[in-house]
Amino acid sequence: PLVSTAELVSTATAEHRAVAAFNVITLEHAEAIAAGAETAGAPAILQISENAVRFHGGRLAAIAAATAAVARASTAPLALHLDHVVSTGLLHEAAGAGFGSVMFDASKLPYEENVRATAEAVRWGHGHGIWIEAELGRVGGKEGEAPLDAHAPGVRTDPAEAAAYAAATGVDALAVAVGSAHAMTERTASLDHALIARLREAVPVPLVLHGSSGVPDDEIRAAVAAGMAKINVGTALNTAFTGSVREFLAGDGRTVDPRRYLAPARDAMAGTVAAFLGLLRP
Ligand code: G3H
Ligand code: ZN
Repeated sequence: PLVSTAELVSTATAEHRAVAAFNVITLEHAEAIAAGAETAGAPAILQISENAVRFHGGRLAAIAAATAAVARASTAPLALHLDHVVSTGLLHEAAGAGFGSVMFDASKLPYEENVRATAEAVRWGHGHGIWIEAELGRVGGKEGEAPLDAHAPGVRTDPAEAAAYAAATGVDALAVAVGSAHAMTERTASLDHALIARLREAVPVPLVLHGSSGVPDDEIRAAVAAGMAKINVGTALNTAFTGSVREFLAGDGRTVDPRRYLAPARDAMAGTVAAFLGLLRP
């Protein structure tokens, strides 16, 4: 069934565990996330990024409707979330398109401007029954960005600033920079667990880990134990998808029906989803 991010995250927080959110690019991604969640017997969040919406010609309502239909048909509780929104126009389309939650990303802006833009997004969101996640600090590696030094000052999230930010904006959850980066194809990130603990102590709202594809299993477990409530995974699904397609086509020069290689690629993504969900099982 289709459930809300708010209820999944609040239940997870109350039970000291985390909920996983997976990025949807194609319909096969959504189907794989549903299948993986069913296998694992766990809920999950289906998230669509602004970049993915742009890839599909900006047709938010159509992508959301297809993804929501997959969620409704599933036996697993699945939520629909709009991810890394930088455009206010797209934010405002979220309500009509059936999203219960949005990650509004003003993290590139200087602190005061981030606060102002995010507080505005939260005001709008709460007026429309939408749960809002925002980001403070910079989780690097976003599409079209130069690589970021995750250790440079001002990149990691400062706990006192994060507490002030949460109070000033009224956000429902906060994405923090603690050593992960987006789009990693190897799981070699090492997180600052002391910082996660300090953030958990200082910030009253659930914390979100972005770029979790590059974080090893034990580091994810430790991050959840230290208080991360939402674990965002995108690239790991694409690694599984593309690896499967590449392997199939390398051994087959004749197939033309894409369903022949999309079916195993979708299964490979479902396996990755189930593995991440298994990791988060208490
Ligand atoms: O918001 C999406 C996530 O942060 C995904 O990051 O593709 O590096 O796993 P990832
Ligand atoms: Zn992210």
